[in-house]
Parts: sequence; structure tokens; C-alpha cells
Amino acid sequence: MEQIVQQIEQYKQEMQAFEATTPAQVEAFRIKYLGTKGLVKTVMGEMKNVPNEQKKVFGQILNEFKEFAEARYTALKEQTEGVAAGGDQQRDITLPGEVFPVGTRHPLNIVRNQIVSIFGRLGFAVAEGPEIEDDWHNFGAMNLPEDHPARDMQDTFYISQNPDWLLRTHTSSVQARVMETQKPPIRVICPGRVYRNETISARAHCFFHQVEGLYIDENVSFADLKQTLYFFVQELFGKHVKVRFRPSYFPFTEPSAEMDISCQICGGDGCNICKHTGWVEILGSGMVHPKVLENFGIDSNKYTGFAFGMGIERITQLKYQVNDLRLYSQNDVRFLKQFTGAV
Ligand code: PHE
Repeated sequence: MEQIVQQIEQYKQEMQAFEATTPAQVEAFRIKYLGTKGLVKTVMGEMKNVPNEQKKVFGQILNEFKEFAEARYTALKEQTEGVAAGGDQQRDITLPGEVFPVGTRHPLNIVRNQIVSIFGRLGFAVAEGPEIEDDWHNFGAMNLPEDHPARDMQDTFYISQNPDWLLRTHTSSVQARVMETQKPPIRVICPGRVYRNETISARAHCFFHQVEGLYIDENVSFADLKQTLYFFVQELFGKHVKVRFRPSYFPFTEPSAEMDISCQICGGDGCNICKHTGWVEILGSGMVHPKVLENFGIDSNKYTGFAFGMGIERITQLKYQVNDLRLYSQNDVRFLKQFTGAV
């Protein structure tokens, strides 16, 4: 009997050390120890070999052994069921899901889209050109020869590999690219980023955004230019907006005009934004200079056209009262997220 009791102790140790992580392993435990041919049964079979006077003690040992095996089996079972079901038990499905940060449209893009959509309704198609331009498309073709003084107002950044390359100073370069490839009638709107060599401040930046417009066809007049732009500002700002045209000069338009609108900040009463005049300049415009048309083989006796260019930052400032240009490019989400739902 000594021997069997020792054997039982050893089985107990083995059972204690038995590890199960899957239901199949728990079942293997059951078969090995508690099955019909399991070790518990086998050990119990030893009862008949035990002398009568020891049967009572041995019986107790056997019962205890059996209970030990059953308890261990139950423990293993619970343990693995816990692991299997753990996915659901440990995860609280009532908790809110993980929040993925959703970006918002940049205010300049919101306004750009509005501008493009208004002109889209008038039949203007979107055209784009490269930000790295050559001298011809940015200046030469637009009637700004190399020594033209108007170039001084548009100093920019040059590319060291090629002195002919520069960062475009206005979207008028896209006018050149369109006239190069398309024949009249031409009706395009050209949004894009432009660059100037400026010291960065609240009112100036080394890059900003413009939208260019170009309309060339037979019989296009200055009246068409005025009416188109008047319609545009009314659509963008509302019917209450007033406009005025002031004579101006651009080498690529003749005659040229700058368009002011009544100040959207103070309503025309006078404030810092409109420098107490009640008016804010929003764009340059004019009739396309015959020389520019001829540069692209467009017959200036047959065709006329108008062009205009506006800064998106300025329009956005008037629409949303943003008075520091630097905010647009600082990537401060506290600023950027204020425009959610603006479109
Ligand atoms: N390109 C001019 C500028 O950047 C704006 C303009 C465009 C004026 C088209 C007239 C016609 O200042």
C-alpha cells in the first residue's frame, strides 16, 4: 500500500502541474485521470489488493484522490472557458468605439470651392498649371518683358539649377498655358498657389492663393466683365454687396481695373480692415491685351476677352473675419476646426 500511496502523491503532483489552455487539453486531462480507463479508476482497482484492516484508510485516500482529480478538472475547465470567452468577457462592448480624428476642410479650400462652383455655373471650366514656371509663361507671354518695371512688384524665388525657372508669382501664368493649348472660345477658372519674395507678416506671406479667370470669344466686352464679376460677388457674399471699379494698370490687360467691394466687416461704415474707406479691393481685372492674344496666335481683331485674378486669402478674410494671414499655414487645429460645416 505504501507504494500505491506514493504513486497517488505523484499523480496529484502531475495533475497540479497539468496546464490546459484549450478545451481539447482539458478533455485530455479528463480522459487520462477521470475516464473509464483513467488513472483514478485504475488506482481504485487496487482496493482489492489491500488488506482488510487497511481498507478504511485506503478508501479515504482514494476518495480524496478522486475529489482532487475532479476539482482540478473543474478548475482547468473554468480556466479555459474563461480564456475562450475572454474576448467578450474582458471587452466591454458598451464602451464607445475608438475615435478616429476626422480632419476638416481648410478654410482656403472651402472658399476656393465656392468660387470655382459659382464660376462653374457660368460655364467656366477649371484649368491648372505648374507652380514651378519658366520666365516666359509667368512674365514674357503676359507682356512683362525682362526689364519691365512691373516685375519688381512680383519678385519671387528662382530655381538654382536653371535661371529660367521660378515659382510663379500669379495664376496668370495659367492663362498663358491655356491659350497655348486651347482655341477660343475659352472660358476657364484657374485656382492655385502662388509665391512672392515677401517678408512674412500678418498682411503678407511668401506664398498665397489666387483664382484666375479668363474668357475669350468674339464680342466679349468690358460690360461682360463687370456683370460677371458683379454676379460673382453677389453669389459669394449676398445681394447686399456693393462694387466699384477703379482704373488700374496691368501689362497683360488694357484697359485694366481693380474691383472693390463694400467692406464685409463693417458694412461700409469704416474699420481697420478697409482702412476706414468702407471699400476693400478684392481683385485685378481687365480686357486681355491684344499683344497677349497675339503671343498665342489668337486673332485680336476677331477675338476679345477679359481676365481677372483674385487672392483667396483676402476673400476668406472678408467672409470669415480672419485677420492674420499666418493662421492659414500654421496648422493650428483650434483655428482650422472652426470652419467645420462651413460648406
Ligand atoms: N495677375 C494679377 C496679380 O497677381 C491679377 C490680374 C489677373 C489682373 C488677371 C488682371 C487680370 O496681381
